[in-house]
Amino acid sequence: MDHLLHIDSSARTTDSISRQLTGGFAAHWAASHPGGRVTYRDLAATPLPHIQEATIAAMTTPLAARTAAQTLATALQEELIAELAAADTVVMGVPMYNYSIPSALKSWVDHVVVFGRTVGQGLFEGTRVIIVNTRGGAYGPGTPREAFDYQERYLRDILALIGLTDITMVNAEMRAAIDGEPTLAQFIPFAVESLAAARTTLLAAADRTSAYNGAVALASTGAIAVIHEGAA
Ligand SMILES: Cc1cc2nc3c(=O)[nH]c(=O)nc-3n(C[C@H](O)[C@H](O)[C@H](O)COP(=O)(O)O)c2cc1C
Repeated sequence: MDHLLHIDSSARTTDSISRQLTGGFAAHWAASHPGGRVTYRDLAATPLPHIQEATIAAMTTPLAARTAAQTLATALQEELIAELAAADTVVMGVPMYNYSIPSALKSWVDHVVVFGRTVGQGLFEGTRVIIVNTRGGAYGPGTPREAFDYQERYLRDILALIGLTDITMVNAEMRAAIDGEPTLAQFIPFAVESLAAARTTLLAAADRTSAYNGAVALASTGAIAVIHEGAA
């Protein structure tokens, strides 16, 4: 059965661009996958506890050898791993916070990327991941802040450890210009186009019947170049 795991991590509950974009993707995916199942996890509304000492002590013990206490200490972690393993498509909303990902999402990463349990185990083979990165500024090739993007590179590298390499990055940039930051007024058209390009890519990626296959790059204007398909 088709199964989408929809993850949001923006602390904004209203006026969140990443929530709008992942929500649009999920709605379109559901419409084009009749009978498909959607699991929703809101990491900001329902934050995961950080990894605890008891979890660390238990998580490297093989599943079958875990004591009752170890099983309890890893129960949430196992639930998150099973949830990810059950999905064949994952859409993830990721606002850039301080050049990186929200700590709410980092906590999820620490639960699902586990040496001896999920790293190099092939548990998530074939899963397609669509990551919606939203930013106040712009970090594309050639921009002054290109080297400060610890969001996209980090997510690619960390998810690759658990075999998630079929990743579509969709970046909606320059929210600060739309929000009225006066020094960025000239970038409003860029921001509007970045958002429109993100929507177009997401609709195509959600549509079972489209020609989208992960290799089709829906480029916006050359000036923006916010969309990257497949491996970097
Ligand atoms: C705590 C915090 C830190 C942020 N840090 C950055 C940053 O380092 N670089 C940037 O371009 N935007 C930064 N922003 C702006 C957000 O990335 C931007 O508002 C984005 O649209 C947030 O996603 P959302 O609309 O889904 O909430 C930050 C926003 C917040 C709330």
